[in-house]
Amino acid sequence: MSRTLLAIETSCDETAAAVVDDALSVRSSVVASQIDLHAAFGGVVPELASRAHLETVTPIVARALEEAGVSGRDLTAVAVTSGPGLVGALLVGIATAKALALGWDIPVVGVNHLEGHLASVYLADPEVPFPQTALLVSGGHCMLTRCTGPGHYELLGETVDDSIGEAYDKVARFLGLGYPGGPVLDRLAATGEDVLGFPRPMLAEGYTFSFSGLKTAVVNHVRADPGFSESEVAASFVAACMDVLIAKLRRALEEFRDPALAIVGGVAASPILRARAQVLADEFGTRLLIPPHAMATDNAAMIGVAGWHKLEASGGSAPAFGPEPDMRLRFV
Ligand code: KG4
Ligand code: ZN
Repeated sequence: MSRTLLAIETSCDETAAAVVDDALSVRSSVVASQIDLHAAFGGVVPELASRAHLETVTPIVARALEEAGVSGRDLTAVAVTSGPGLVGALLVGIATAKALALGWDIPVVGVNHLEGHLASVYLADPEVPFPQTALLVSGGHCMLTRCTGPGHYELLGETVDDSIGEAYDKVARFLGLGYPGGPVLDRLAATGEDVLGFPRPMLAEGYTFSFSGLKTAVVNHVRADPGFSESEVAASFVAACMDVLIAKLRRALEEFRDPALAIVGGVAASPILRARAQVLADEFGTRLLIPPHAMATDNAAMIGVAGWHKLEASGGSAPAFGPEPDMRLRFV
């Protein structure tokens, strides 16, 4: 019988639990989104998030166990996101994981949320090749790395200001399109043309990203032209974002010629990014690794995969570990 692990993710606005076995097969994955709760505010309200996690986490864990057909007695360990994220939100997941692990007398392993996203490529295909040129594009991060093996990353570059998902969310909020901005801007972009000539920031700057100036260019355009077309703004903004991402990926593929290109994080759910990345990967003869749509945005299955890697590399975490809101990836 295979060994199974319960994973819990509560770092931001999704309460998620999953059961993943040691072959990295997902037995269950349950995600309760708080999007409706935060939509009216145009972004995540930390106190509301913590309270909602507290109410939801126990039933979500119960559902994940039930759907996987396992009970606490069958589990090998509990994995939980320990950072980065909102401190109160992380605390709910960590306290829950510790209490369950103590009751079941099994180890608990704290997982870096970013490692979870990078491990989400296993959810598409457990036989992933290395090294990978790996782009992490989410609400909190925009980071290009090279992943030389599970848990081994080199940083190529990251954003000096906003993450790309944050830019999407801020532009959508400014246009009154609600939260999260990614899906709605992508849909609108498909109905318009890239005609507004928004800047492609830091194209020549190695692997460094910047999205705050692009967001300001959108705001300035909208303020200056009351008759602006929403679909043209969306199409021009999204095209500028994608041109930057693809240019940086092209540079990395030219420099390293890695056999795999991984794209992870919430923005990897974008059909526009997926299509353009596939064209690029085909051009370089590299394998494109993108998690299935539902596993690109926050979920616990990816925390389960990273949890297995960590458990097998270094065992459970010390009992005193707590939330690390600013946790970084460890580059080795
Ligand atoms: O990874 P994620 O769920 O949470 C963080 O770790 O931050 O990413 C959320 C981000 C949000 O900024 C959201 O607007 C963006 O992912 N996103 C998308 C799409 N779906 C979600 N961006 C572009 N296109 C999408 N379809
Ligand atoms: Zn995330």
